[in-house]
Amino acid sequence: MKFKTILLATFLTLFTNLSHAGEGMWLPLLLSQLNEKEMRDMGMRITAEDIYSINHSSLKDAIVLFGGGCTGELVSDKGLLLTNHHCGYGNIQKHSSLEHDYLTNGFWSQRLEEELPNPGLSVTFLVRMEDVTQSTLKGINNNISQKIRDSIIQSNIKILVKEAVKGTHYTAQVKPFYSGNQYYLFVSETFTDVRLVGAPPSNIGKFGGDTDNWMWPRHTGDFSMFRIYAGKDNKPAEYSKDNVPYRPAKHLTISLKGIKEGDFTFVYGFPGTTQEYLPSYAVDMTAMQRNPVAIGLRQQRLDIIDKAMESDRLTRIQYSAKAAGISNTWKKMIGESRGIKLLDGIEKKQEFEKDFQQWAQSNPELNAKYGQLLPAFGKAFGAFVPVNIAYTYISEGLLGIELVRFSYGYNNLVKFCNDKSKTDDEISKLIEGLKISAAAFHKNYNKQVDVKLFETLMTTYTKSCETDLQVPYVKETTAKYKGDINTWTNDLYKNTLFADSAKLYAFLSGFKRKDARKIEKDPAYILASGIYTYSQNIFYPLVTSFYATNDSLQRLYIAAQMEMQPEKRFYPDANSTLRIAYGNVKGYKPADAVEYNWFTTLDGIMQKENPDIYDYVVEPKLKELYNLRDYGRYADADKSMHVGFIASNHTTGGNSGSPVLNAEGQLIGINFDRCWEGTMSDLMYDPDQCRNISLDIRYCLFIIDKMAGAKRLVDEMTIVE
Ligand code: ARG
Ligand code: GLU
Repeated sequence: MKFKTILLATFLTLFTNLSHAGEGMWLPLLLSQLNEKEMRDMGMRITAEDIYSINHSSLKDAIVLFGGGCTGELVSDKGLLLTNHHCGYGNIQKHSSLEHDYLTNGFWSQRLEEELPNPGLSVTFLVRMEDVTQSTLKGINNNISQKIRDSIIQSNIKILVKEAVKGTHYTAQVKPFYSGNQYYLFVSETFTDVRLVGAPPSNIGKFGGDTDNWMWPRHTGDFSMFRIYAGKDNKPAEYSKDNVPYRPAKHLTISLKGIKEGDFTFVYGFPGTTQEYLPSYAVDMTAMQRNPVAIGLRQQRLDIIDKAMESDRLTRIQYSAKAAGISNTWKKMIGESRGIKLLDGIEKKQEFEKDFQQWAQSNPELNAKYGQLLPAFGKAFGAFVPVNIAYTYISEGLLGIELVRFSYGYNNLVKFCNDKSKTDDEISKLIEGLKISAAAFHKNYNKQVDVKLFETLMTTYTKSCETDLQVPYVKETTAKYKGDINTWTNDLYKNTLFADSAKLYAFLSGFKRKDARKIEKDPAYILASGIYTYSQNIFYPLVTSFYATNDSLQRLYIAAQMEMQPEKRFYPDANSTLRIAYGNVKGYKPADAVEYNWFTTLDGIMQKENPDIYDYVVEPKLKELYNLRDYGRYADADKSMHVGFIASNHTTGGNSGSPVLNAEGQLIGINFDRCWEGTMSDLMYDPDQCRNISLDIRYCLFIIDKMAGAKRLVDEMTIVE
């Protein structure tokens, strides 16, 4: 008897411990039920109700989804908001010109009137959330197909959403959790008048650039400031000069008290996507098969673009944002695959699957439900992997040729011209739009760079992508040129309309309906059509049917994992909804004989300084303050200026800009990245290696106050010392 109990206990702890302290992105609504006790045991001194409440104002009222893909937090009662520099980057760039180069020099408004509007930028608050699983799944049973299931769910959701926003200016969404085993409703409030208040120069906000990206030790001052404006009634309003600063129900208190190793912290924000409950087949496909192909193709693009940027200033301006995007994902994928390998991630999943299979076959009832699940996964992935790889050669390779993407934008024009029901007026309208997008494209386009991209990526494609799954037009044209990609490239760029801005503009200006034929005969357009048509006709049906199968298997697999491990606390995968991650401030050991400290300082910036390398130039004013050690109240107790710190909070893309809060719920940092050795945490979290990287709020305030002299902003904030 005793032996049996011990056995059962070890069995349970084995599985309960699959989720480690630090791991998890939890739902604010369920915090009191699932996490509050543990959070308090770890040092938290506020309550779950202080973090999320619908009865009174709580910390959630100070958090926004910023611009769709980042997080921001309110830090004054006048709508002042903090987020990352890389989250505000696009808007800072839009306001930048050679005369007012805010990207390079930074921007600080001196008065409210100087704050700059950003059409298209919005922020969204969560008003409330609710478990609506039962109403969403009304009318569903296990005998219907995935397709019918989806359509019933969609119509149930429509009703729920309509009901939820009745009589308000709110919007609502119902999203699936645990791969469709549960559903939650989110009611939100969106503001569209959001103005740029301040940004540090890039040599602070992007210090270390793509070289330091995804790495610790880090010294990036990755923050920017915006302000939410509202109508006089404090409700959302379209941009107007008469709008006034928004008065939030809550803004964060900022702590200058400093941070110690071991301190409790939590991150409150909108993580984008994680996939923690996949079978080994899926992890193998992503980390071992797809990533390497995508990494190689991105590497080729970066080699070409980086070289061109180094030798020409204009090319740097044209390609820096594009390069940052290509590089960010490239590096993330390298880190992810590396992490899965070092962690024996696939073997760990396979071990679990062995236990799972045993459990699933332990009685006839379970066997009927789950016995065939893993073999079905194996079959689906076996068929899908080659398709996925071939499609990756298109999406990461052929579509990396800028002219391919651009010229396909003329598809609609061709369709309109060939459609008798479309009037000349409609066509003229389309032409005006195309002129605007062509100007934007050519502003950041260098033909020589694109020629090299074409040659290189096309060569790789024809040599490496499995022949049976190659775009027929590409295969035929390569054969026509007898494999001489070089000559094909020269012919194409000589004869196309699209690579040359003046030529294209003249063409558009004198455009007549019958000119559509010229587009249809353009070699870049023909290539693009060949690629897109093949993708639509061959790949999309395969991909869609794989996902339908995979979705229903994955839903069953999560349900089964929950049934198998009733003691385990499951957190739902990230899906851009508001979450809490919590952990401790903590260094780590990235490699044999190496140990990383948990914080960085301004001294480290001076050590990295290199006036000859763009990413390591130090702002003169910052150097001056450093030489005087003039840190004021922002200095640490150790007298140095702390810049960044790491902790074991489980975060992902979308958490950028999220507030990092202390045990009292006060703001101590802004999350902006993850450490290299832990980038596999979207697939598998490792408590020893996974750390989120944050900007120390004291460095942020030091830059605003001492370096930029924008004291008016600091005066708005609520600060405790
Ligand atoms: N790695 C961070 C994230 O995923 C920062 C990206 C921006 N910084 C950069 N150097 N590209 O978004
Ligand atoms: N930089 C990421 C973002 O923009 C956060 C880093 C991560 O993926 O954890 O959201």
